[in-house]
Amino acid sequence: MSINSENFSLLSKLPQYVFSSVNELKYEARKKGEDIIDFGMGNPDQPTPRHIIEKLLESAIQGRNHRYSVSAGLPKLRLAITNWYKRNYDVELDPDNETIVTIGSKEGLSHLMISLLAPGETVLVPDPCYPIHSYSVLIARGNIKEYNSIKDENLLMNIEKGLKTKPKALIISFPSNPTTQTVDIDFFTKIVDLAKKYSVIVIHDFAYADICFDNYKAPSFLQASGAMNVGVESFSLSKSYNMAGWRVGFMSGNREVISALKRVKSYLDYGIFQPIQIAAITALNETQDCVKQTANIYKERRNRLVDGLSKIGWEIELPKATMFVWAKIPEQYLGMGSLEFSKKLIKDCKVAVSPGVGFGPSGDEFVRFALIENEQRIQQAARSMKKLFV
Ligand SMILES: Cc1ncc(COP(=O)(O)O)c(C=O)c1O
Repeated sequence: MSINSENFSLLSKLPQYVFSSVNELKYEARKKGEDIIDFGMGNPDQPTPRHIIEKLLESAIQGRNHRYSVSAGLPKLRLAITNWYKRNYDVELDPDNETIVTIGSKEGLSHLMISLLAPGETVLVPDPCYPIHSYSVLIARGNIKEYNSIKDENLLMNIEKGLKTKPKALIISFPSNPTTQTVDIDFFTKIVDLAKKYSVIVIHDFAYADICFDNYKAPSFLQASGAMNVGVESFSLSKSYNMAGWRVGFMSGNREVISALKRVKSYLDYGIFQPIQIAAITALNETQDCVKQTANIYKERRNRLVDGLSKIGWEIELPKATMFVWAKIPEQYLGMGSLEFSKKLIKDCKVAVSPGVGFGPSGDEFVRFALIENEQRIQQAARSMKKLFV
């Protein structure tokens, strides 16, 4: 028998990453020695705060931390999570039944879908969305139904329209990657009402909880009255604590949903390397100044980019949160679509961005800048994009 990848049915469902063609151009340019200013991937460039690394080192040297750990997460970490919710959002959680540690949000969301869905069941996902929101459904052999998540004023209406098709679950994520849209607690209350009306499980991805600016504080979905009855919320230490490579996050909320994920994960993993979990306890329990400093770095970069683009004639509204700027393609280039426009930015301006279409068809009039370059490089990029407007 010869092995033929065409027989692996899941692979045919997972499309090629749209981002890969832009990435290839970027690598080719770099191979030629060109300096590409890279706003492509949302990969935090700052180091993890020192006190968290020190805790990792101290724990890693101790042999007792080298054994298999606990799949659902150390009890002390689950306690730190519930204290974090109480302190930040005045939400009370039972550490044993209403929260679970995940190997980052991506792992948590993917295994959650496997835990909840029977093959062929449908999940309502945003378009555009962070790719794992839709791919996790495909990986679980589910079907995707999309709602347009571009326009603020129509959002609830779009969601309700999708809910009428009776999906099993609904994914929402605010502050949003890629659109940077934010919501208030009223929005979540309406989502809870819709969830009850249409008997749908709500999954809220809260990765940018702390990356907020200008006195905006993002609400937790679990603050909405009745949210615990209808859904769960996923949080990641990747962005708030610059711990993207460590792979640690958590999911909290409805105990039936958490219990389903816990059960499936208990077959699949033995928990994150224990020193990482111990360092995560330090991250959540100790000073949060580092979180504020990180948000401040993104705020200054956001200002620099939006200001720089405005000076060259590309007007973009200041986002209130996230590490991204979601920019409508200038009128004269709109016809190209986001993929060709992104390629043009690399070729002509030596600037790499993510084409909006990579996040879903409704994103095609936009490109996304990830704020992972320093202010000086951002200014340099804005200057170099000036030629688009002459
Ligand atoms: C909305 C959203 N959710 C989840 C993640 C990934 O989180 P993690 O590193 O915990 O898997 C990202 C990363 O960019 C994101 O933008």
